[in-house]
Amino acid sequence: ICGSCAMNIDGVNTLACLSPINKEHKITDLNPLPHMYVVKDLVPDMTNFYQQYKSIKPWLIQKDENKPEKNQENIQSIEDRNKLSDMDKCILCACCSTACPSYWWNSDKYLGPAILMQANRWVKDTRDDASKERLNKLRDPFSLYRCHTIMNCTKTCPKGLNPGKAVAELKVELANG
Ligand code: SF4
Ligand code: F3S
Repeated sequence: ICGSCAMNIDGVNTLACLSPINKEHKITDLNPLPHMYVVKDLVPDMTNFYQQYKSIKPWLIQKDENKPEKNQENIQSIEDRNKLSDMDKCILCACCSTACPSYWWNSDKYLGPAILMQANRWVKDTRDDASKERLNKLRDPFSLYRCHTIMNCTKTCPKGLNPGKAVAELKVELANG
């Protein structure tokens, strides 16, 4: 459940560790995640994906006055915690991004559903003070707006998450901001 065994099995991006072998198929087709450079065999080159992840600053950014005292927890209410809607359960396997045709064609400039869901995860975190900057960074023709609501991302997520919805929420936030 670490995301490392993400691959395309019989045409579907998924985690090998969670996929029983279909005994009705004489042959099981295994391929690396689609449209990625391949390091070797089933191992995709994740360099661009991780650089994109780094670009959204995936950590809590707080003003000094809002930071908790040293050794104190950064507590959230249950209601605020629920706003993260399981987005923090993403294991960054990249099954969703590599199932997205927009990401296939523009992965140099389009962030893709996995990274955008993480961007939304931090925008929605009520403890974070940088949501405006986070949203402004997405205001260009490619980073976010290459999503055309194809929804392959949500369909294929082996964790049952909804990155397509997270991307749509970001579009609404930008439209309102
Ligand atoms: Fe993997 Fe799902 Fe996270 Fe996409 S949203 S990276 S498919 S766990
Ligand atoms: Fe791609 Fe998902 Fe949007 S498949 S186009 S990121 S809804």
